[in-house]
Amino acid sequence: MTLNLPASPLRRRNCFVILGFALFVPLCLFVLFSVPDVNTEQLLVQRLAELQIRLQYLDSVYRIRQEDLQKLTEYIDVVLLSQNSTGVTLVNPNTSLTNDVKHLVKNMTGLNAAYGINPSFVVRFSTSYYFLPHLLDDPFSLRLAYMLSKGRAGVSLVMGIPTVKREKQSYLMDTLQNLLEGMNSAEANDTLIVVFVAETDLQYVLHVARQIETRYPAQVESGLIEVISPSPSYYPDFEKLRLTLGDSRERVKWRSKQNLDFAFLMSYAQPKGTFYVQLEDDILAKPQYVTEMKNFALDKTSKKEPWFVLDFCQLGFIGKMFKSAELPWLITFFQMFYNDKPVDWLLDHLLYTKICNYEKNNDVCKKEKAKLWIRYKPSLFQHIGTHSSLKGKMQKLKDKQFGKVPLFIPHNNPEADVTSSIKHYKQYTLKRAYLGETFFWGLLPQPDDQLTFTFSSPVLLKRYYFRSGNADHPADKFYNTTVEVLPVEMPRNITKLAYNLTSDGYVLVGKFDSVGIASGVVDEVLGKIRTLRLYIHSDSDNWAILSEIHIQDE
Ligand SMILES: *[C@@H]1O[C@H](CO)[C@@H](O)[C@H](O)[C@H]1NC(C)=O
Ligand SMILES: *[C@@H]1O[C@H](CO)[C@@H](O)[C@H](O)[C@H]1NC(C)=O
Ligand SMILES: *[C@@H]1O[C@H](CO)[C@@H](O)[C@H](O)[C@H]1NC(C)=O
Ligand SMILES: *[C@@H]1O[C@H](CO)[C@@H](O)[C@H](O)[C@H]1NC(C)=O
Ligand SMILES: *[C@@H]1O[C@H](CO)[C@@H](O)[C@H](O)[C@H]1NC(C)=O
Ligand SMILES: *[C@@H]1O[C@H](CO)[C@@H](O)[C@H](O)[C@H]1NC(C)=O
Ligand SMILES: *[C@@H]1O[C@H](CO)[C@@H](O)[C@H](O)[C@H]1NC(C)=O
Repeated sequence: MTLNLPASPLRRRNCFVILGFALFVPLCLFVLFSVPDVNTEQLLVQRLAELQIRLQYLDSVYRIRQEDLQKLTEYIDVVLLSQNSTGVTLVNPNTSLTNDVKHLVKNMTGLNAAYGINPSFVVRFSTSYYFLPHLLDDPFSLRLAYMLSKGRAGVSLVMGIPTVKREKQSYLMDTLQNLLEGMNSAEANDTLIVVFVAETDLQYVLHVARQIETRYPAQVESGLIEVISPSPSYYPDFEKLRLTLGDSRERVKWRSKQNLDFAFLMSYAQPKGTFYVQLEDDILAKPQYVTEMKNFALDKTSKKEPWFVLDFCQLGFIGKMFKSAELPWLITFFQMFYNDKPVDWLLDHLLYTKICNYEKNNDVCKKEKAKLWIRYKPSLFQHIGTHSSLKGKMQKLKDKQFGKVPLFIPHNNPEADVTSSIKHYKQYTLKRAYLGETFFWGLLPQPDDQLTFTFSSPVLLKRYYFRSGNADHPADKFYNTTVEVLPVEMPRNITKLAYNLTSDGYVLVGKFDSVGIASGVVDEVLGKIRTLRLYIHSDSDNWAILSEIHIQDE
């Protein structure tokens, strides 16, 4: 598919008005003929606000279609005109001229000036192609190089997550896990997550897409998660950028690319939902963040408070919500100044340009901006990474408004004797972690290290759930680690059941995945279990944290 980058605006048409009526009239009738109590009234006000914004969004989608239509019409005009070999363009006979003008034209016969009415010349507003002339070098520059999508559209909330190859740890999978865990099924139904892999190495893009589909097959299948990547010719020659703001070439490249990435991602996301939220690939979210964001936006709209940005995180460009209909403002602005300023400055400058009076002092401007850029407290998003993708630029910024993030989740587990061959750090012992008092924090795991849980009386194990890493140390996961159980009595037909046995008689039942979670059910055929263990197969560059241990018996 190709992208529609914004160009000149166009008129609405009748059918749009009809669409508006179709949406509003039944609602108004409903309002008139029901006697709402306070609750339903509130609900209606919110629903009305929702419809209002949705209409704006549909309008913007409609404009894109109109633009396509206009381009097509221009093209047809050119084809028709070029069929006339005389090479002179005359006044279109059907143009309705007033009598005065007709008269005037008659009096001008023989003059070139008489032929000037309704020429076939079309003014082209130089937008995308002027600011990004390299896009003309390749007809495929605005195509996607990669797309994993079920074509979900018309949702309330689209979340854009740009991601790049990181030298150190990538937190993309942790971010997705966290975003999905914070949604219920109704929220998931009304949301779209677009992962924008901003890399031209197709092999890497495929690696990310495969990782996502393997970990979240249901969410990819339902259309909740999409993965896209731009064509390599979308990017200019980064070596030829102007060095601006006195920054190093590396930094100029990094921030210029970020501007272009945001513009692309926003252009892709714009027609897919009512609201757009910009996120990053190394964040945590509060539970129910989808509903909180949506309600906040609808509340502002129903109270007729104008807004341009709703800000759900104090950091950089994280958690900034826009109406999809208004994204072209940002997209065009980013294209114009991509080489000049970092993306978060541009957002600020755009608002300044939109509303500040140059002749009034800065305080007045700040107040005016705060009316359109509304901050939500407490923050809904927080950074988890400590390394930025820009080499050497540490990103220890944390949002102070976010509050404390739980570092472990306690559970009641069956009584057991626990041991670990991995040395623990400070008071973070496995025993305390098993009892739900803290998390386990072990130093550099080695191959053949094991954590064992031997039950005081053997249990019929139903489910197990282990989560490694935590918000402060997301990279401290268990890598290449299996979950194994030792039954009291091995079923005789174990080989027929195709279970994998270890040399010391344990049955392999699961392993830690790319997000650092191991969970599963244990086949009741195995009967009562004496011991469960986590077995490490290779050494790790990181320490290892177990932040959740849940063993369900009964
Ligand atoms: C081309 O346009 C001229 C001027 O309108 C007209 O007289 C002529 O018939 C046209 N020729 C054709 C082939 O349409
Ligand atoms: C001009 O108007 C006539 C009558 O309304 C119509 O039949 C014809 O198709 C029109 N021609 C053009 C080029 O629009
Ligand atoms: C026609 O043009 C001539 C020369 O420009 C002008 O003097 C004359 O008044 C015009 N006639 C009409 C009817 O406009
Ligand atoms: C989600 O959407 C599907 C398909 O449209 C529907 O069957 C399901 O009931 C929806 N679930 C919720 C919780 O809205
Ligand atoms: C294996 O044995 C168990 C109990 O001894 C029985 O429930 C199960 O059906 C058997 N499975 C196969 C594949 O023979
Ligand atoms: C046993 O190991 C084989 C090969 O590694 C694997 O394909 C199979 O899924 C494993 N079976 C179980 C029950 O884990
Ligand atoms: C896991 O460990 C085994 C044994 O050391 C090794 O062969 C395998 O390559 C490792 N797998 C990964 C994904 O690191």
